Amino acid sequence: MENKRIVMGSDHAGLSLKLKVKAHLEARGFAVIDVGTHTPESCNYTVYADALCKVMTAGEADLGILVCGTGVGMSIAANKHKGIRAACCENTFSARMTRMHNDANVLCFGERVIGYGLACDMVDLFVDTPFEGGRHQARVDDLNALDESK
Ligand code: RB5
Repeated sequence: MENKRIVMGSDHAGLSLKLKVKAHLEARGFAVIDVGTHTPESCNYTVYADALCKVMTAGEADLGILVCGTGVGMSIAANKHKGIRAACCENTFSARMTRMHNDANVLCFGERVIGYGLACDMVDLFVDTPFEGGRHQARVDDLNALDESK
């Protein structure tokens, strides 16, 4: 059993890829909370970004993954929450670097943009890569200060 707790969410446009990536993570031994959506009916990505961020800020998960059509709407919505550093990624380099340099805690991507194989590679790097700290800690501290200045 992997020790990181993961929470996932999607809208209708990200549902299919979310379920496939969720199965991939469960096969790796992760416990995955799924905040929805659970049906293909059209819905607003904001609802599920909000639900996922509430799980994160309650301390019930360590990392989050949000899927919509592009990943962009999810990342905009998630970044409105204090303590959330959401990164919309379309390649493995960004998914790895956003953990190392930004200590990103939510990965967003789009089912209409990337395929299952790339999504799994990005997610694996995201969950396996630690924050580098060092000079990057001061920048993450600045991001946290921006949260407080709202
Ligand atoms: C839904 O059509 C689409 O707008 C949404 O999934 C997302 O891509 C928004 O950023």
